[in-house]
Amino acid sequence: MTSTAQAPKSGARTAHPEHLGHVIFIAAAAAMGGFLFGYDSSVINGAVEAIRDRYDIGSAALAQVIAIALIGCAIGAATAGRMADRIGRIRVMQIAALLFTVSAVGSALPFSLWDFALWRVVGGFAIGMASVIGPAYIAEVAPPAYRGRLGSFQQAAIVIGIAVSQLVNWGLLNAADGDQRGELMGLEAWQVMLGVMVVPAVLYGLLSFAIPESPRFLISVGKHERAREILGEVEGDQIDLDARVAEIELAMKSEHKSTFKDLLGGSFFFKPIVWIGIGLSVFQQFVGINVAFYYSSTLWQSVGVDPTDSFFYSFTTSIINIVGTVIAMIFVDRVGRKPLALIGSVGMVIGLALEAWAFSYDLVDGKLPATQGWIALIAAHVFVLFFALSWGVVVWVMLGEMFPNRIRAAALGVAAAAQWIANWAITASFPSLADWNLSVTYVIYTVFAALSIPFVLKYVKETKGKALEEMG
Ligand code: GLC
Repeated sequence: MTSTAQAPKSGARTAHPEHLGHVIFIAAAAAMGGFLFGYDSSVINGAVEAIRDRYDIGSAALAQVIAIALIGCAIGAATAGRMADRIGRIRVMQIAALLFTVSAVGSALPFSLWDFALWRVVGGFAIGMASVIGPAYIAEVAPPAYRGRLGSFQQAAIVIGIAVSQLVNWGLLNAADGDQRGELMGLEAWQVMLGVMVVPAVLYGLLSFAIPESPRFLISVGKHERAREILGEVEGDQIDLDARVAEIELAMKSEHKSTFKDLLGGSFFFKPIVWIGIGLSVFQQFVGINVAFYYSSTLWQSVGVDPTDSFFYSFTTSIINIVGTVIAMIFVDRVGRKPLALIGSVGMVIGLALEAWAFSYDLVDGKLPATQGWIALIAAHVFVLFFALSWGVVVWVMLGEMFPNRIRAAALGVAAAAQWIANWAITASFPSLADWNLSVTYVIYTVFAALSIPFVLKYVKETKGKALEEMG
């Protein structure tokens, strides 16, 4: 970016460990939205049977009620970016926290199936908002040397949220003698599962009052003095803060304004960088990661695990997901985003291809032959591990940092919305694809994992260690 080269050098890339504790708190608070994202999108697994039973609906209608939340996510993501540019990053977090709270209470105490679905959409909207605002905000407050690691707090919070929801579901179900509609504290077990989300939702709202607005947003609305103070808090005062503010301002002036039209960039449709963001999102979902979480019982049953124990086994998948995420957090700023993504893609191809092979054997009484069953199980976990140490973290980190300042929030909103639509396409199509041919289904995911390699090599630019002002 030629214009930033004229700005005085601020020394922005220097690490300032003495401020790191504060920055870690800020990133962790913002990542609470990720925790709610993980918890809310996975908690519903513990409530589906109760919903089916209570409202006496068939599988198709149930699937619609579940899937509709993902549409809410896409709309929330698409809206949050522009909203963040108008009212600020912190206000968006507060609105998301409010919607999470309302949705938790509403979906735990619905009057009918209709308002239950509505509350799920409201919750989806909040998830979509949280999926955008966490990465954007963290990238904007993090010092460049730690941005990958701090940005991965979002994914770490998502995977912890998934694991906690599984534990809560499992614990509550046991307390209710294995019946999702069993009574607990005057409510049915599934209502408690959904309702306890009020606690992290309120905490998220409270924490958002304790963290500063993004300095980049403040500069974009002319609040330079406040931006300077916050930059001092997060990047340390050894850097030349005036130069830093001037550098950010200059970079913003040289870019387009963040309106939806400006994302189009005068070309056929979106700017190439927006397409690369969309590509990262779509590949992240088209490898079928959420099939491993939302439909894990298909896998457990095919290797002979009793369906009632499947919560416990799904939790082991979550532990592997957490381990992989920690590995990524260690390496994302050391080896960089691109090498991690490539290593992950290779591992995912191997895991998915083995699953495709194992499922090419006929099921007898709903089960694979013993050897293939074990291989399918191990391969599925190899896949989850490699996803977690690469695309899980890398995509959310990169979406937060790869776009130029002016279009960051809006472009991230578009890319995240694409991710929710891709998530919906995969999760909605899996049951029919699996009925048709499970092996071919995994071949499809394998092909996407393989195609992600040339995509990364050709289109994705390394962002490790760069200042946000150098992106684009
Ligand atoms: C990423 C994906 C999300 C998935 C999760 C699993 O956050 O975006 O869809 O559920 O990883 O760990």
